[in-house]
Amino acid sequence: MSTLLIKNIGRLQTATGSHPHKGKEQGENLKLDNAAVYCVDGRIKEITSGGKLPAGSENADTIIDAEGKLVTPGLVEGHTHLVFGGYRHNEIPLKLKGAGYLDILRAGGGINDTVKKTREATEAELYAKCEGFLDEMMSLGVTTAEAKSGYGIDMDTELKLLRVLNKLNEDHPMDLVTTFMPAHVVLADWKGKEDEYIELCIKEMFPYVKEHGLAEFVDIFTEDSVFNYEQSKRYLQAAKDMGFGLKIHADEIEAIGGSKLAGEIGATSAEHLIVINEEGMASMAKGGTIAMLLPATSFYLGATFAPARRMIDEFEIPVAMATDFNPGSCPSLNMQFVINLGYLKYRMTPEEILTAVTINPACGIGRGDEVGTLEVGKKADMVIWDADSFEFLCYRMGSNLAIETIKGGEIF
Ligand code: NIG
Ligand code: FE
Repeated sequence: MSTLLIKNIGRLQTATGSHPHKGKEQGENLKLDNAAVYCVDGRIKEITSGGKLPAGSENADTIIDAEGKLVTPGLVEGHTHLVFGGYRHNEIPLKLKGAGYLDILRAGGGINDTVKKTREATEAELYAKCEGFLDEMMSLGVTTAEAKSGYGIDMDTELKLLRVLNKLNEDHPMDLVTTFMPAHVVLADWKGKEDEYIELCIKEMFPYVKEHGLAEFVDIFTEDSVFNYEQSKRYLQAAKDMGFGLKIHADEIEAIGGSKLAGEIGATSAEHLIVINEEGMASMAKGGTIAMLLPATSFYLGATFAPARRMIDEFEIPVAMATDFNPGSCPSLNMQFVINLGYLKYRMTPEEILTAVTINPACGIGRGDEVGTLEVGKKADMVIWDADSFEFLCYRMGSNLAIETIKGGEIF
């Protein structure tokens, strides 16, 4: 048996429960002062407050004095394109001259470029690069993350990416949830044959990935010049029939019906939603789809910000936030930056934001029962922050405020 006590926590703040939080509940957090958390074998055994310590906890194998600081659940990163070859800083001068994201993509750059570099990279190179990313994410307070394939496009390379992610899930302390996203771009040789490519995904790729347990979710880029509503519907319905969870990149640049489809088909989450309309929000609310908002992408693309307030107040859609870490539209994996943007750009409250970076993304990646809140029985994943309140974390920018990331009862 291994035991850990974290004592002298000035403020412990967490959402409660294992379900997606929406509407008013999105802004309800439990706040305990002078708290302590006792963990046994990687799980939370008892939480106390008011200066009391859990019985027997003084003899814990490891005791951490939080010195009056803030403790929250480990951050849950719900959306990354973690495994890719190369980078794309060469695009910045083009962007600054006025080229839009889709202009670069249509001209054969963008994702096309990353696919080329990803195909060239060896499995070992990709593994080492992702391992570095995971270390960095953990040092910034993330303890569970989603990661997508999508820069292989051909079956062999897509499988290479899934192998890298699954191996890292075994080897690295980070809990990784894997998403299969072969429909991420239409390469030149598939232009005009998008329907055939969708068939290839459905008939050949999905069954293999399912049979070998390589991914839990399937995702698609539903966008102008990429995959349309009908193609996305066929692809997601087939994935659903095979037992995958569903995700969709929707309404990032053009609203072509992605969020509407997400609600209709029962997607677990819809991502981006920068230009979502009322029909899309109503559909998501009806379908119980979680909004996975990616404000650092809005920032990097110079785009507007998703209507988070309306989602929470008017449509009662559970809102989660993630980075979207990828080489083209968000070269940052810093969830603390996302927290800042949620505060300043989405105008969410600190309590709503904490929910949006813990329990809601945990539900969005199928881990709501295990992580995302500090409650008895859940994984002992938490962060000690150099802050006295979560509000302070929302306000400070550009520094890493995570003092200690604890994953499964172990200090990272
Ligand atoms: O979520 N939009 C599609 N996929 C990523 C960008 C990928 C890239 O540009 O390499 C996104 O923004
Ligand atoms: Fe994305």
